[in-house]
Amino acid sequence: MATTIRVRHQDAHEFVVSLLKASGVSASNAGIVAQGLVEADLRGVDSHGINRIPSYLARIRAGVLDAKAEATVTEVTPVVAQVDAHNGFGFPAASLAMSTATRMASTFGIGLVSVKHSNHFGMSAWIVRQAVSAGMMSLVFTNSSPALPVWGGKSQLMGVSPIACGAPGGKDSRPFILDMAPSVAARGKIHKALRRGEKIPKGWALDSEGRETEDPAEALKGVMLPMGGPKGSALAIMMDVFSGVMSGSAFAGGVTGPYDLSGPGDVGHFIVAIKPDLFVSLEEFRERMDILYKRVVESDKAAGVERIYFPGEIEQLTEEERLKDGIPYVQDEIDAMNAEADKLEVPRLRVA
Ligand SMILES: NC(=O)c1ccc[n+]([C@@H]2O[C@H](COP(=O)([O-])OP(=O)(O)OC[C@H]3O[C@@H](n4cnc5c(N)ncnc54)[C@H](O)[C@@H]3O)[C@@H](O)[C@H]2O)c1
Repeated sequence: MATTIRVRHQDAHEFVVSLLKASGVSASNAGIVAQGLVEADLRGVDSHGINRIPSYLARIRAGVLDAKAEATVTEVTPVVAQVDAHNGFGFPAASLAMSTATRMASTFGIGLVSVKHSNHFGMSAWIVRQAVSAGMMSLVFTNSSPALPVWGGKSQLMGVSPIACGAPGGKDSRPFILDMAPSVAARGKIHKALRRGEKIPKGWALDSEGRETEDPAEALKGVMLPMGGPKGSALAIMMDVFSGVMSGSAFAGGVTGPYDLSGPGDVGHFIVAIKPDLFVSLEEFRERMDILYKRVVESDKAAGVERIYFPGEIEQLTEEERLKDGIPYVQDEIDAMNAEADKLEVPRLRVA
C-alpha cells in the first residue's frame, strides 16, 4: 500500500475550482463540480473524487465536453421537468434537476426530472444528499458507458450504472443513503487500483480473454462482473431504461465514457424527490426511521462481525474523520493533478 499525503478538503475544493475556471467553466458550475468530487473523497469514495479531474480536463481539451455549457430546465407538467445539460458537466445538470425536483415535491409531494445530453456526475450519493438536506426522499439513477456484459453475453454492453436512493434520518439516526453500482465493484475502483499500483480482488472483473484477473489494466480491457449474476445485469438495464431510453439521451451501449475522448458523453439521468410525510406525519416518519435504524444496527451480529452499519453510514463516519484529518492521496495522484495545474498556470495543490 503506497504512503498517503493528507490534503484539507477546503484546499482540494479550491484547487479543483481554479483548474475548472482556468478551463472555461463558470465559477458557479466549477463550485458545484468541486463539491461533488470533494464530497466523494471525504466519504471515502476515492474512485470518484478529485482524481477524476485530469480525465475531465482532457475531454474539455479534446472538444467533447463543453466547459461553458449551462444546463436549462423545461417544465413538462407541474411535477415533471426535463433538464438539457447541453453536453456540459453532469454535476450542475444533476444538481439543477434535484433542486427542481425538491421544489416540485415541496408543493405537490413528488417531483420527477429527466436529464439529457449530460456527462458523468461522479458519485450519485452527493445528489441524494442534496435531497436529504432539503428534507426529501429521493431516487437518483444514471446510465453510463459500456463496461458490463448482459447476463449470458461476453462483451461490454451495459454501463456499471449506479442505483442510488435516500431518505432523511430521524432524531437519533443517520439518513439512509444507498449508492451502489450493479457490478461486484464500481469500475472507478479499478482505475483507482491502477493509479495506485495495486491489485484488484478476484471476482471483480474478467480480462479480454474472459479469464478472472487481479490486474487492473487487464480488467479495464475486459468486462466488469455483474453483482448477483442476472439480477445485477437486469439492474444495469433498468438504469438504461429510466435514464437513457426515457430521457432522449444515448442508450443501449451508446454512452461515451469519462475516460474516452471520442465524443460527447450523452449520458441520461433520472431524478425523483419525494416528500417523506405524504402518508404519515413528519414526526411519525422520523420516529419510524429511528426505529428502523436502531433495529438494523442493533441486530444480532454474525460470527466475526464487530459492528453493523446502516447504508451510507460507513461513508458518513469516514467523512467525519476526513473533515478533521484531511483527505489521503498518493504522490502519483498529486503529481498527475499538479501536471494539470502547471499546464493551466494555476497554483498547485496545497498539501497539509
Ligand atoms: N456516475 C457513474 O457513472 C458511476 C458509475 C459507477 C459507480 N459510480 C459510483 O461509484 C461509487 C461506488 O460504488 P460501489 O457499488 O462500489 O459502492 P460500495 O460497494 O462501496 O457501496 C455500496 C452501498 O453499500 C453500502 N455498504 C457498503 N459496505 C457496507 C457495510 N459493511 N454495511 C452496510 N452498508 C454497506 C454503502 O453505504 C453503499 O450505499 C458510488 O458512489 C457510485 O455512485 C458512479
